[in-house]
Amino acid sequence: MNNRQARIFAWGSTIAAAALFLGLTLDSHRQFPELTNAANITPEVTHGKDVWHKYNCINCHTLFGEGAYYAPDLTKITQHRGEAYLQAYMREPGAFYDEQRHRRLMPQQDLSDEEITSLIAFLDWVANVDNQGWPPRPILVTGGFTAVAGGSGAGTPVQSGSTSVGVRPVDPDDDIRALGENVFRTAIPGCTTCHSLAPGADGAGPSLAGVATRAELLVGAADYTGQASDVEGYLREAITEPSAHLNTGGMYSANGMSFMPNTYGDSLSDEEIEQLVAFLATLK
Ligand code: HEC
Ligand code: HEC
Repeated sequence: MNNRQARIFAWGSTIAAAALFLGLTLDSHRQFPELTNAANITPEVTHGKDVWHKYNCINCHTLFGEGAYYAPDLTKITQHRGEAYLQAYMREPGAFYDEQRHRRLMPQQDLSDEEITSLIAFLDWVANVDNQGWPPRPILVTGGFTAVAGGSGAGTPVQSGSTSVGVRPVDPDDDIRALGENVFRTAIPGCTTCHSLAPGADGAGPSLAGVATRAELLVGAADYTGQASDVEGYLREAITEPSAHLNTGGMYSANGMSFMPNTYGDSLSDEEIEQLVAFLATLK
């Protein structure tokens, strides 16, 4: 390459790179309104954002991975927890976690109901921004229980040879239970963000280890308040009408309202619910 060729090459590649950079930048900006669902920024969402700043939630939490890393990322929190749970949690965070066990607590903020409602609207707008996979994984609250996929959190370890579903290959074509397991992992809000399948590992919801055996005893018991008369019926009811019978133990409900989202009857198809029931019925 002589000098002239080298100059042309240098200029040519610089101009090409600059044009590409500019083009991609413009293209990103063109997509912003759609990616950020800008049309859904209501006054309530804006107010929620102001509340978020007023209480410096960002000093402990992250949104889109930005903020402080003391407390869990809240980018997708409304897809992990339903509204009832979030309302109750923000009213009294200390009721949900134990300083001994979780080693950190969210302070009591004394938020008004109106502030809480706006915060949830804001967080729900955030959750619906198309963040193209960032942050890369849901960052959950505590290591309090082992996730279904056989993670090794601080919860009760899943013993080999147990009924752990983590080890069974999912074969969606020929097994309704496998389909149900898949729904269990992919439903929104995610079942696995509240329920572990490891015995004794209660999270925001009770561990579902042995739920079929418990259901069998429960439907015949005097203190059962739901309508079901068999295991499948109980599981169906637990999914579609969480408040029909309330579990006791952890911080699971208030004023007769379960913190489990009551939206699954609408958001899941009847078929998906039957698949889930078939899957949960194997947890003896
Ligand atoms: C001093 C730090 C701190 C501040 C400030 C703070 N939080 Fe938290 N928050 C935490 C911690 C720690 C957790 C994890 C759960 C726990 O141990 O209590 C948490 C958990 C949460 C959760 C998730 C609960 C769950 O079970 O998934 C929500 C929602 C939440 N905070 C909302 C807020 C909002 C909204 C604000 C501002 C109004 C805020 N937080 C301010 C520390 C904080
Ligand atoms: C925001 C947290 C949360 C999410 C998400 C959630 N649950 Fe729950 N779930 C709970 C709580 C809390 C309870 C206990 C209170 C009650 O009885 O409703 C519960 C109870 C249950 C029970 C009854 C357990 C028993 O021992 O009797 C079943 C079954 C169940 N959930 C299944 C599911 C399935 C399936 C999904 C996903 C489609 C799901 N849950 C999503 C919080 C949650």
